[in-house]
Formats: sequence, structure tokens, C-alpha cells
Amino acid sequence: MGAILHTDVLLLLCLIGAASALYKQWIPDTNYENKTNWDKQAVPCSSDIAEFPAQRKVSVFVESMHGVQELRLPVDGEFILNSGAGFYVVSGQEPSCGAGVTAKFKDSESLQWFNPALWHAAVTSDDLQSGNFLFSVHEESVPCRYDDVVFRARSSFRMDTSSGQSTIPVKSVSVLGKTFESQSEFSQFLSSGSGRLQFHGSSAVTVGEPGCQDPSGCDCGNSANSHLICGTVTCGSPGCKRPLHPVGHCCQVCGAIVTIRYEAGFNLQNYRQRIHHLFLTQPKYKSIQLGMSKVFKAQRFAFIPFSASPEVQVVILDGEKGEQAESLAREVVTDARTQGSNMGITEAEFQASSGSGSDNTGSDAGMVVGIVFGVLITIALVAVVALLIRKGVVRLPSMPSLGRLKTNSIVGELGGPLDLGFDNPMFDKPTMLPDVPSLYGGDTISMTRTGVHFVNPVYDEHETDFNA
Ligand SMILES: *[C@@H]1O[C@H](CO)[C@@H](O)[C@H](O)[C@H]1NC(C)=O
Repeated sequence: MGAILHTDVLLLLCLIGAASALYKQWIPDTNYENKTNWDKQAVPCSSDIAEFPAQRKVSVFVESMHGVQELRLPVDGEFILNSGAGFYVVSGQEPSCGAGVTAKFKDSESLQWFNPALWHAAVTSDDLQSGNFLFSVHEESVPCRYDDVVFRARSSFRMDTSSGQSTIPVKSVSVLGKTFESQSEFSQFLSSGSGRLQFHGSSAVTVGEPGCQDPSGCDCGNSANSHLICGTVTCGSPGCKRPLHPVGHCCQVCGAIVTIRYEAGFNLQNYRQRIHHLFLTQPKYKSIQLGMSKVFKAQRFAFIPFSASPEVQVVILDGEKGEQAESLAREVVTDARTQGSNMGITEAEFQASSGSGSDNTGSDAGMVVGIVFGVLITIALVAVVALLIRKGVVRLPSMPSLGRLKTNSIVGELGGPLDLGFDNPMFDKPTMLPDVPSLYGGDTISMTRTGVHFVNPVYDEHETDFNA
């Protein structure tokens, strides 16, 4: 009785805690019965020779009994036999099986953990079973640190976990039906025969990360590995007027991106469900792929990146042209603006690859302030430089070295505060900019200390895509 009560309490805690973690399932396997694992796209029959690559290590799950002419085994490997599974050698040929061939088992050595195409994502493990998968941007297709990683129960696999980091932390890992949540148990498994055959590579997968505790969602944490992730992705050329680049995605896409800003009370999982029930069940949106995630988008104020604020990015893709994606984006924004206050949504807008987007008064105002501020800074800069040139402190650079100006020369050669000799009232009245509390915090923009964050758009070709 006490134990049952205890489990209920735990379950409740889990439900609250698992605010928006997902299940990520590894797709490939090294199962004997999976015909895609054989070079002839067929499981060897009793007239065949089954050959495993001699120099490879492999762990192979065998579901049932197989007759073979011959079994050629690798140097290091294991068969995980289901009960009743095994091999028997057949002498002579069975008529049903033909003349017999040498069937080679495919090499799965190069399959990488960080390949987003090799994972399925789902909200629950039931959804994984029933094939109710979620679409995600590339970085989130690979397990995030608060996700549960699942290898199909009756299957074996081999994967390369190499990355730039020494560990790949996740919440839990399930292998062959056993779920590992404690690191000591899991590292024991990893050093076992199966563990070493199934995971190889420079990074160690570790378990025991807490799930995502924030109902509004958690940042996936895979951006540190984005080069690895995108290295496995081949992008097609988008066939639309203004392709979009979602945060965390490797490729430009045609479709629409809805941006949701929120306050306390917003629950990402509930919102995801709402969107699925309201819209994705409609026949006209059948071909839509919709991925929802919390992202930190660098905010620019007067073209200066000064902070990263969390927002919810809804990526909506639809085949080539993205027309349905755009009409869905409009519906989602309308829903968020009319019903959003009940859900903790404060703002919603969208951008579509056709070039259209929702008007948004709030961000327009921000834009105007931004532009005014940007112009003032530019004037201030020009004035300071002009003054210094007149005083002979700085010599006018020749044109080719203009590019150096933004990174080294200004701060390096002036060596002191930039506002010397120029009294810009904007700097003395931080209260004039109530929307930007951190602007004067000291470490977000530091014009005097470092030039790195002070990017003048006039000189920087990378910063000019702010309205793209
Ligand atoms: C066989 O392997 C492929 C690719 O590795 C996978 O997509 C498929 O689901 C597997 N088939 C079965 C029946 O498990």
C-alpha cells in the first residue's frame, strides 16, 4: 500500500517535472532481420552465406531461428539472441531459397549520434510506438540534454558518439528495454561488451540530467555542436522568393516562422497540443510540418547585439511553395492575438518566405527607436573621429584598411572612453529607453572596454540582414 502511494506521488512529480522534454528515438538498427542491413536488401535464406565485415565490430540482435550455409563472423562482435532465436547450418539447398548467394551485412560504423536524420522525436513513448512523431529543427532533432533517448526495445545498433565535447549529457537512455537514469549504472553498461559494441567514438553519453523544469520550455543546448549536426545535412536550394532561416536549423527553408513572446504561465507543451488539435488535424494542413521550440534569439538594438531573449519559434514548412504554411501562420498568429492572453502569450508575429509577414506595432516602435538610436551613435562616432582627426590623434586611414577600423583601430588607438568631448544626451538619460533595461547594465554593451560588440553597420556586411 505504502509503495503504491509512493509511486503515485513520484508519477505526479514526474508529470510536473517533464514539462517539455521529448523522447528521441534512434532510427537505424543492426538487427539481423532488418533487410535494409543486408547488401541485397534481403535477409539471408538457408542457401546463402551470411557474411559480417571482418574488421568491424558489431552487435546484432537476432529475433528468430535462421538457416544458413555458412556464417562468417567479424573479429569482434556479438549476437543478442531473442529466446528461440539462433542459427542452424543447412547442407544443400532448399528449393524455396534459390541457388544461394553471399549476403553481406552492412557497415554501420559511420552512423553518427549528431546526424539529425537518424532520430525520431515524440512527446511520449506511446507516440514513439504509434509513429506519432514531431518535426523539429535540425539541432533539436538530435537529443537535447533534457531528453529521454530511446533505442527500440528489440534491436541492436552501433553509433559514433564523437564530438568536440568529452560528454553528451542526456536525461536517460533506454537500451533493449532497460532504462538507465543513473550514471553509475549506465557507465557500467557502457563498459560492458554490448555497451562497447553499440557506442563508439570520442564522447561519452552520460545520463542523469534533470528534465526540463521550465513549463515554457528549455533551450535544447545543442548549438555547441551545430557544426557537427549541420555537417551531416545536405541542404537543397529553396525555391521561394525569400527563404527563411529558422534558429537551430541548418538550411534555409520555404514556409513561415511564427514568433511567440510570452510571460509567466505559458506552457509550451500545452500550446503545442493546442496547435496540433486546432490546426494540424485539418485536412488542408495534412502536408504541413510544424516544429515548435524555445530559442534564444540575439536581440539587436541599433544593430548592436546586446542580449538574447527567449521566445518560442514555430517553424511551419509545406512542400515547395509554402502557401499553406503561410495561411497556417496567419491562423496561428490570429489565435495567439485573440486567445493568447489566457495562455500567457504577449506577442505573436510571423514571417513568410513569400515576403509577407504580420504587422506588429510593438516591434515597429522598437524599430523606430532603434533606428534613431543607431543614427545618433553613428553621428557621435563620426563626430568623435572627426574631432580626433582634427587634433591629429588619429590619422585618416587609407581606404583598404577601413575594415580594420571597426575591430581594432577605434578602441585600440583611442584607448579611452568614446564619449570624450561629445556630450550625447542619450547616454545621460537611461530612463528615456524604458524598454531596454539591460542596456546600461555595464556588461552588455561596453563601448569603452571592447570594440567587439560595437558593430557599425556601415562597415559590417554581416549585420545588414536585419530585415531579411
Ligand atoms: C530497418 O532499418 C531501417 C533503417 O535503418 C529503419 O528505418 C526501419 O525501421 C527498420 N525496420 C524495422 C522493421 O525495424
